[in-house]
Amino acid sequence: MHIGTPLSPSATRIMLLGAGELGKEVIISLQRLGVEVIAVDRYAHSPGQQVAHHAHVIDMSDPVALRALIMETQPEFIVPEIEAIATDVLAEVEQELNIQIIPTAKATELTMNREGIRRLAAEELNIPTSSYEFAESLSDLRLIIENSIGYPCVVKPVMSSSGKGQSVVYDPSDVATAWEYAMSGGRVSRSKVIVEGFVQFDYEITLLTVRALNESGEVATYFCDPIGHVQRHGDYVESWQPQPMQDVALQQAKEYARRITQELGGRGLFGVEFFVQNSEVYFSEVSPRPHDTGMVTMVTQRQNEFELHARAILGLPVNTESQCCGASAVIYGGVDGKGVRFHGLPQALSVPNSEIRLFGKPESFSRRRMGVALAYADTVEQAREWASLAASQVKVEKGKS
Ligand SMILES: Nc1ncnc2c1ncn2[C@@H]1O[C@H](COP(=O)(O)OP(=O)(O)OP(=O)(O)O)[C@@H](O)[C@H]1O
Ligand SMILES: [Mg+2]
Repeated sequence: MHIGTPLSPSATRIMLLGAGELGKEVIISLQRLGVEVIAVDRYAHSPGQQVAHHAHVIDMSDPVALRALIMETQPEFIVPEIEAIATDVLAEVEQELNIQIIPTAKATELTMNREGIRRLAAEELNIPTSSYEFAESLSDLRLIIENSIGYPCVVKPVMSSSGKGQSVVYDPSDVATAWEYAMSGGRVSRSKVIVEGFVQFDYEITLLTVRALNESGEVATYFCDPIGHVQRHGDYVESWQPQPMQDVALQQAKEYARRITQELGGRGLFGVEFFVQNSEVYFSEVSPRPHDTGMVTMVTQRQNEFELHARAILGLPVNTESQCCGASAVIYGGVDGKGVRFHGLPQALSVPNSEIRLFGKPESFSRRRMGVALAYADTVEQAREWASLAASQVKVEKGKS
């Protein structure tokens, strides 16, 4: 492999499809290695576009617009950061133009739809998951819950992320509301939901799993220490590393993650989500890209999840070791409006071992993730306390219109 000079004919050009806060960190990591980056998003001044060489605003689910932009900019690699992408185009350019899709076009396609990845894991790879069925109408959904899944259960649109359209159904009176909510929160107007048995887990983890080249130039699988997290309304609010685990559960999770990521193929970092109950491990879902709960690695690992992704993409060696315990706590907008101001940063950064990332999103919503507080410590408990304290010091004020 080689890396060229940005903005010259020899440049190693990488296109990011989606350039939010996670993409922004991937871009910074790539730029540190001398890569030329094209950041694409659905709106202007997205976090990643603010630090990229080139910025384009298109609807990435529009195959014509996506293909035209790829032809115009001729990237060597395409790195999807979001799920709502015209994945057919990725498969075409992977075949026709030999552009490397990270990790692969197939992985992008399978993971954008809960049905594809769930059936692969549970039915082809025989990996334990919650019980599940798919429903295409409200009457279907009622029948499935009554006859097989039971209460409580979780209803999710097959295409959605960050908990959008997802709800827990406790009894028959919740079913219609859950269906309506799923229909309003799904990404595409296709009426299909997954209904999952509710797993009474003790804790849940993200196992960051990296497929990268080893010393012999072959793809090998590497694991970061497990990350524990708390989700509220299907969205993560706090994460920490390492999550203490029984060794048998950890080994099981690694084995499942290795098999799933091997099936998805290619190189890159994956966030594999599991529920753990006693020593039983249940696969939930996988992101073929850095994971929001993995932001904690910015303070715990020598090579954080974004650097690991960048290295894996480029065919460079990786090191997944942690150096300390750490935690992250989300900073929400709390207010609606453009051009908000952040106060309390001196107080937040006076908390021991803390760091703050503000994503620079042009518009705030009450429940939009605008930043994150990070802290490291000798124990996870201490790191969590400091990260939450630092996050709570940051106050968001409406901008002047
Ligand atoms: N079957 C289930 N049993 C118990 N809890 C569940 C179940 N499915 C989801 N959850 C809870 O809801 C959270 C979000 O679910 P999931 O990861 O499927 O949604 P998502 O929209 O893909 O979220 P994200 O994009 O943030 O990962 C899970 O992390 C877990 O806390
Ligand atoms: Mg998830």
